[in-house]
Amino acid sequence: MEIFNKFYKRSIQERRQIIIDTFNHADLFSSLHQDTYDNMIENAITTYEIPFGVAPGLIINNKSYVIPMATEEPSVIAAQANAAKIIAMNGGLTAKVINKDMIGQLAFYNPKESFESILENELEVLFKIANDAKPSIVNRGGGLKKITWDTKHSDNNGSFFIIYASIDTQEAMGANIVNTIMEALKNHLEPLFEQEATMAILSNLADESLVEVECILDPSTLKNSETIADKIQEASAFAQVDPYRASTHNKGIMNGIDALTLVSGNDTRAIEAGVHAYAARSGYYKGLSQWQSINGKLHGTMTLPVSVGTVGGTIKLNPKAQLAHEILGRPTKEELMIIIAAVGLAQNFAALYALTTDGIQKGHMALQARALILDCGATTSELDVLLPKVRNLKNPDKNTIMSLLDELRQ
Ligand code: HMG
Repeated sequence: MEIFNKFYKRSIQERRQIIIDTFNHADLFSSLHQDTYDNMIENAITTYEIPFGVAPGLIINNKSYVIPMATEEPSVIAAQANAAKIIAMNGGLTAKVINKDMIGQLAFYNPKESFESILENELEVLFKIANDAKPSIVNRGGGLKKITWDTKHSDNNGSFFIIYASIDTQEAMGANIVNTIMEALKNHLEPLFEQEATMAILSNLADESLVEVECILDPSTLKNSETIADKIQEASAFAQVDPYRASTHNKGIMNGIDALTLVSGNDTRAIEAGVHAYAARSGYYKGLSQWQSINGKLHGTMTLPVSVGTVGGTIKLNPKAQLAHEILGRPTKEELMIIIAAVGLAQNFAALYALTTDGIQKGHMALQARALILDCGATTSELDVLLPKVRNLKNPDKNTIMSLLDELRQ
């Protein structure tokens, strides 16, 4: 959308007006009401503020999105906008949902006897119990899809008999749906097995909610076009062999994913837990994305678990989450999963591009300078005067900024 060109060069009032005019939702700028947040958590006293911004122009499957993001970190939204601009010059990203079921677990420690044959005979009943526990999700076309089991040995010569249930939670992320179904199965199986279960709970390793995202970039659209594809391939390989680097590589991906997950009213802890467990699925923690130089083009790919919803939780209660869904064009759960994964790959590209060209500090510190100056006690009019001076500093530390501020005030 033309209106978002150089969006960051406009004043905050202009930006807000564009959002109101484009999405026609002035009311969604309101804050969470005290009565609402007092009922959302326990012992509430107030709300905690995080800036909410947008990064326009991310093209996914030929559709252009304005990405809402809630983050306290400078340069994340600029990085997203920067990546989106470059990716758009290359035709955008493509992404698809591979599957979208949640997994529940029910475990029995040191099974008294072999439970397999009991389970095999009981499968039909278990599906009925699961459906009866959550008829509303069955009416929407979801519910229990599959039951499997396995035995896992623990260190002290004990073993767990674990039942895994794959559950289609439709538009919801589905933690409560899964837990309700798993507890109903537990209540039925305990007397049958004549044994108390260890627990019944969903798994955050949501590897049946996978999204695959890809983009292909022509090096001629990038700086250092002769060498950039090889350099980014090298940076990606580094994250495959060293967990210290993989952790930072994945943190960069999560800069975007968490910001969008949070603002969309979804559970960032669930996504984080799932993503990092998935990154270690081979037994070795690795970078989630891979970049390769193939036939002169830079190919970026990533597959990751994305467990989110468009209904349920506090999504409906929070006006800012509603604003985020509005800005995204009211996506379905599948579409939201795709957008989240695409934001992660775009964010990763921006970081690797900066790291393999100018280094991260140049762009990041230029944007962090604002927060640093304000942190030194400058007013917004002092900020305007100090900003160009601070951006010219090699090492803009607090002491130097304080002396510049003192100088200005004298
Ligand atoms: P640049 O090319 O030096 O600056 O990028 P530019 O002024 O030429 O701007 C290029 C585009 O960036 C602009 O295009 C905007 O789209 C966007 P235009 O619209 O002007 O045609 N842009 C902005 N958007 C919104 N607000 C702004 C703004 N400035 C530029 N103020 C930039 C500068 C910072 C974007 C670039 O250096 C970058 O992408 N750096 C990466 C920053 C990053 O990854 N930050 C995350 C925090 S660091 C971290 O936690 C992760 C990490 O450790 C992960 C890892 O190790 O893998 C790095």
